Amino acid sequence: MRKKVTIVGSGNVGATAAHWIASKELADVVLIDIIEGVPQGKGLDLLEAMPIEKRDSYIIGTNDYADTANSDIVVITAGIPRKPGMSRDDLLNTNHKIMKDVVSKAVQYSPNCILIIVSNPLDAMAQAAYKMSGFPRERVIGMAGVLDSARFRAFIADELKVSVENVTAFVLGGHGDTMVPLPRYSTVAGIPITELIAPERLAQLVQRTRDGGAEIVKYLKTGSAYYAPSAATTEMVEAILKDKKKILPCAVYLEGEYGIKGLFVGVPAKLGSKGIEQVIQIKLTSEEQAALNKSADAVKELVGVIGV
Ligand code: LAC
Repeated sequence: MRKKVTIVGSGNVGATAAHWIASKELADVVLIDIIEGVPQGKGLDLLEAMPIEKRDSYIIGTNDYADTANSDIVVITAGIPRKPGMSRDDLLNTNHKIMKDVVSKAVQYSPNCILIIVSNPLDAMAQAAYKMSGFPRERVIGMAGVLDSARFRAFIADELKVSVENVTAFVLGGHGDTMVPLPRYSTVAGIPITELIAPERLAQLVQRTRDGGAEIVKYLKTGSAYYAPSAATTEMVEAILKDKKKILPCAVYLEGEYGIKGLFVGVPAKLGSKGIEQVIQIKLTSEEQAALNKSADAVKELVGVIGV
């Protein structure tokens, strides 16, 4: 039987995720939104592309959660995006309201699904979804680290003029201004980038990574990034559906790992058919741990405001 992925939110991130997932033939896709017509139109348009792409993914758009029943994965992208000058945190209350509505309906129809949260502010929205769903932590995962590390990888590959395939990167912490790219664990063909890029230049690439989302918002003016965020989501979907046991940086509800308890923060995690199958713990320097703690404090402040 084919796998089924529901994507909540038929905006740019949701629709582009549907595009990647269908074009890789990972699953049938249900695109759902409260806006009438848009999910149906985009879903049908994508379905009509499948003969050209030679893919047997079936895609529908809907406003009715009954159509999402028994999804293997529900990806939540619903919410408003930021505009220039706004931080992800400015979206907190509006997107929390949307999240409450969406999560309760999604889990009612797909009680065994794995939730992937993409809405911002990411870590706080993941925490809200986790608490509302009543799911074990293995089945509620936030998408951020794959995106942030992809940005870092793109900048490193461009700087050194090497294949993106040679570059791995490591980003810890919340999906915000306090995220923690770790050059020590970022490599080009196994060589730490600290051996290849001078410290001052590396610091610039790290800062550009932290500001990666804002850089795109500044260009687009009316919304935020969507190609890279949806590609990142799709990598997580693929790892789960194919039970790849792939280690990816994800926002996970920590229960003492890295000295953090009761909070969603980005850490390396093994993704397989059960969702989060392991949180990978590595030894951090005191400087790195302090940066991670600062990032966790920023998440804590937000979850405090919405009381989750
Ligand atoms: C970004 C937004 C989507 O980082 O959080 O582009």
